[in-house]
Amino acid sequence: MSALSSSLLLGERESSLPPGPRMPSTLQAIAWARRPLPFLERCQKHFGDIFTIRVRHSGTWVILADPEDVKRVFTADHAVLGVGVANSILGPLLGPRSVMLLEEPEHVKRRKLMLPPFHGERMQGYSEMMANVTRRELASWPIGEPFELWPHMQEITLEAIMRVVFGPVETDRLRRLRYLLRRLTNWMNDPRRLNLLAAAGPSRFAGNSDYRGMMGPVEDAVLEEVRRRQRDPDCTDGRDIAAMLGEARYEDGSPMSEQDLRDELVTLLTDGPTSSLLSWAFERILRHPDKLTRLRAEIDAGESDAYLDAVVKETMRLCPAAPIVVRRLLAPMELGGYTIPAGTTVAPCVHLIHRRADLYPAPLHFSPERFLERPAGTYTWIPFGGGVRRCLAASYAQMLMKQVIRTVVSQIDLRPTDPHSEWARKSAIAFVPHRHATVIATQRRPVPEATHELTTV
Ligand code: HEM
Repeated sequence: MSALSSSLLLGERESSLPPGPRMPSTLQAIAWARRPLPFLERCQKHFGDIFTIRVRHSGTWVILADPEDVKRVFTADHAVLGVGVANSILGPLLGPRSVMLLEEPEHVKRRKLMLPPFHGERMQGYSEMMANVTRRELASWPIGEPFELWPHMQEITLEAIMRVVFGPVETDRLRRLRYLLRRLTNWMNDPRRLNLLAAAGPSRFAGNSDYRGMMGPVEDAVLEEVRRRQRDPDCTDGRDIAAMLGEARYEDGSPMSEQDLRDELVTLLTDGPTSSLLSWAFERILRHPDKLTRLRAEIDAGESDAYLDAVVKETMRLCPAAPIVVRRLLAPMELGGYTIPAGTTVAPCVHLIHRRADLYPAPLHFSPERFLERPAGTYTWIPFGGGVRRCLAASYAQMLMKQVIRTVVSQIDLRPTDPHSEWARKSAIAFVPHRHATVIATQRRPVPEATHELTTV
């Protein structure tokens, strides 16, 4: 046997990557960048519940669509799993010191610092603010004219997170920062920028002068807010995240660096998925009048939010915000009968798991009722990922979605302009309905008095 053929055989035995499309990695990168969801569906049909794709700039990914494999990844010792390469595509936006991109053991320490505002009593305190922000926003919606819901949902989610991060008092500085963030997000969401990011890769994109022109002022404004709180702790009630992170200390007593603060605050402020999922919630529920009637009856009765919760869960099941989550293997791992080598990115596939007919009968139907009959499973309902890297604001995001839907449904009647469903289009952070959830408001309902007005100075 020649040296070449024996090394090929050895190579085959040693590397046990599952099969996948044989197209060159550039073509796979194009399929991934343009229409990732149909690409994933075609691959699953062809290769089954575990397959390998190769994407230029992002390396080799093993996609997992079997809940057993997903469980293995989410419960693995976190010393065996690193940040996936796909996450680093977010590097220019979030920054290398964002909790989302940190490796262990730093990741766990940072996560501990950031969790408290998104849990328990602290978080419950945001609910009235969320309803008020929504009421204020929907007061400007036109009656009888078509408009896109997505930009309004972006306004609501941005304003809500600004209040959590910087406190309840709105100032001219914060209004300017909101404008800068909106400008940056709109710029990033332009499909031309997404193509540039896919073609150039994250490091070259980060050096792009137009990008710096958009991001630089955001960074300056965010850091200035932290410094103000450090100089004058009385300028807020001390409960906002900017003040908290400015004062936070690691176990050895050291503070977070300026880069850490910038990256963490920008990570929180660029909440893309919640506005996209809210747009999907309305895109779906408005096309199902019987379900809307049931939801409105529950909201008007004000006694339970079981159906509202099911609507939120079903929206997240069916409508992709993030179609995969990623981990980089630091050691080989057995998955689906293969020994996946260290260095490979493994990707629990939210999109394919959520569409399995054995888990969700009639998987393409929008049916909140399924979550009334059976609770969401830890490894079968995974819109927030899982394990030690599960979205740290999952409860916050669901609470915000519920407050927005509750407020909108009780105060305004909407209908879609087109009975045909919208399809998923990629934006910078999440997938959005391609017509941005275009609707017409037919009438306003009487507005109850707000209990706590928003504070403006
Ligand atoms: C419905 C809306 C949202 C969805 C679907 C979502 C989804 C996700 C997903 C899939 C991950 C990766 C999890 C993993 O790798 O296992 C993640 C991580 C994260 N998300 Fe969310 N997210 C949402 C809202 C938010 C909001 C509102 C914030 C903050 C304001 C946020 C902050 C984060 C952070 C900081 C991480 C990194 C956690 C870590 O690495 O420890 N997310 N999110």
